[in-house]
Amino acid sequence: MAQIVNEDRNPVLVALDLPTAERASLLARDLAPYVGGFKVGLELLTGPGPRVIGVLARLGKPVFADAKLHDIPNTVRAAARHLGSAGARWVTAHASGGRAMLEAAVEGMAEGAGTRPAGILAITVLTSLDKESLAETGVVATPGRLAAKRARLAADSGCEGVITSVKELTVVSDIAPGLLTVVPGIRPPGVSRHDQVRIASPSEALCRGADYLVIGRGITKAQDPVEASRAILADMAGVRSAHGAG
Ligand code: C5P
Repeated sequence: MAQIVNEDRNPVLVALDLPTAERASLLARDLAPYVGGFKVGLELLTGPGPRVIGVLARLGKPVFADAKLHDIPNTVRAAARHLGSAGARWVTAHASGGRAMLEAAVEGMAEGAGTRPAGILAITVLTSLDKESLAETGVVATPGRLAAKRARLAADSGCEGVITSVKELTVVSDIAPGLLTVVPGIRPPGVSRHDQVRIASPSEALCRGADYLVIGRGITKAQDPVEASRAILADMAGVRSAHGAG
């Protein structure tokens, strides 16, 4: 777990997996007082495009562009530069792309963001991959060992943090304690698990040392998303004050 380096102490990043920039920005405007930032995924980045990042950033919260970059270093540097200049606080890149690619992403992001704080979050291992599916791709390792190795690589390449499942939080924090940990697969108590396999509640993930929580449908599909965000804040309140981050 990294020491608190977040501009906003609220650890909830809402995954705005919505089809249009209008819907995303309307919902974000309502949620802004109750959440720590917004995640823009491939749906918004490939539909409305990266301009949505700037629209959301104007609400005053960090915007995390989950672009999952993976290409040759030169191409990744250019993509990270564009996303950084569009206003992203963080951009994701696959650690499996290797050191040169991660370093290029870090450089491109810094060039694009200029003087604003900005960093790369490395995806260690997709949570959809298990030991068998990794072996099919030629990678002989358990997801846990691979996540640890890639977290080390992310830290050595200058990344600011990692995306990791709650299950691998401990191993990742042990091997690269300076990295921010951002954890998806979070379900507030009483919310359906949908298609997520390894889930944790917000307070459970914080107790295990997560710095940020990615929460999508638990908020966006709630009957009252604002009320759902407030309930999550209440669920986390005890843990956050115990950790001195409230
Ligand atoms: O709706 P839900 O809370 O499951 O949303 C999770 C978000 O986190 C989605 O935007 C998804 O793309 C992303 N994500 C994930 N698992 C990962 C990496 C990212 O669910 N391993």
